[in-house]
Amino acid sequence: MVIRSQIIGAGGYLPARVVTNDELAKQLDTSDAWIQERTGIRQRHIAAPEETAAFMGAAAARSALREAGAGVDDVDAIVLATTTPDQAFPATAVRVQALLGMKRGFAFDVSAACSGFIYALAVADAMLRAGTARSALVIGSEVYSRILDWSDRSTAVLFGDGAGAVYLRAGKGEGLGTDRGVLSTHLHSQGELGDILYVDGAVGRRDRPGTLVMNGREVFRHAVVRLAEAVDEALLANGLDRGQVDWLVPHQANMRIIEAMRRKIALRPEQVVVTVDRHANTSAASIPLALAEAVGDGRIRSGDLVLMEALGGGLTWGSALVRL
Ligand code: COA
Repeated sequence: MVIRSQIIGAGGYLPARVVTNDELAKQLDTSDAWIQERTGIRQRHIAAPEETAAFMGAAAARSALREAGAGVDDVDAIVLATTTPDQAFPATAVRVQALLGMKRGFAFDVSAACSGFIYALAVADAMLRAGTARSALVIGSEVYSRILDWSDRSTAVLFGDGAGAVYLRAGKGEGLGTDRGVLSTHLHSQGELGDILYVDGAVGRRDRPGTLVMNGREVFRHAVVRLAEAVDEALLANGLDRGQVDWLVPHQANMRIIEAMRRKIALRPEQVVVTVDRHANTSAASIPLALAEAVGDGRIRSGDLVLMEALGGGLTWGSALVRL
C-alpha cells in the first residue's frame, strides 16, 4: 500500500478583459495573421488593477474546492507557483490563505517560471506522501501583463493573465500505474541557460523593477528537445507505454511546441487540451487552467491517464503523470 496524491477538484480564473491580436496590432508592428501562424494565439485575458496573483489565485482555489466538494477546513497546505507575486513577501500563497478565510495549515510560494505548476505539484505530492500534510491546494497564478515590455512585439503578443488550481488529497494506492493520483513527477533545471528567458530586474533592485526578455528561437529549440525527454522519462518511470496516455495537458506557450509533443506521443489532436488560442501563455497558470477546463466540460474523466509537461525560464522543465 502506498500514499497517492489524488486530484479531487480543479478550478480556474480568468480576468474579464479580453485583448485580441487585432487590438495589439493597433499599437505594435504586428498582425493577427503573424501571431496566429507562429503561435496559435488569437487572444489573451488581461488583468484589471485589482486582479493580482493573490486575488486570481484565491478565485481559482475557491473554484477547485467547490468542484471537490471541500471547504477551507479541508486544506492543510497551499503551494502556489508564481513569478509575478503581489509583494516580495509575504508569499502570495499566504495572501491567498487569508483571502480564503483559512485559519490553519501553512502556505508558501514556488518560483519556477512557466514550469511552476509542475514544480508546485511535485512539492505538494512529496509532502502528502511523506505525511507532512494530508491535503493541499496547488495553485498557479500569474499577471505577466505587469512584467511585459508592451513596446516589444516579440514578447508582448505571447502572454496573458490568469490562475488555475487543483485540490489534492492523500489517498491509498497499490504502487501501480493503475492507481488514482500523481504517479510520478520529474523536475529539471539548467542554470547556465538563465539568460535565454528572464526578467531583467526585481523588487531587490530599486533601479529596475524588470521586464521580460526572451530569445524565442533558443527557447523553442530547447523546448522541443527537453520536453520530449521529460515525456519519455515519465512513461519509463511508470512502465507505461505512450499508447496508454489518454490526455496531454501541456504548458500552453506555443501551438507548434504543443503539436511537436502530440506527434511525439502519437496522440490524436482531440486528446490534447489546448487553451493557448484563447489564453495565450499564462505561465504557471496554464496547465491547471487547461486541466480545469477539460475536467469541467467532461472531456477528462476519473480514471483517465493525463500527461503534463512544461518548460520555462531557468531553464526549468519537467513532467507529471497523473491518473485522475
Ligand atoms: N509580429 C510580427 N513580426 C514579429 C513579431 C510579431 N509579434 N515578433 C517577431 N517578429 C519578427 C522578428 O522581428 C523577425 O523579423 P526579422 O526576420 O526581420 O528579424 C521575424 O518575425 C522572425 O522572428 P523569429 O523570432 O525568428 O520568429 P519565430 O518563428 O522563431 O517565432 C516565437 C517567434 C517567439 C513565436 C517563437 O520563437 C517561439 O514561440 N519561441 C518559444 C517561445 C516560448 O515558448 N516562450 C515561453 C516559454 S515558457
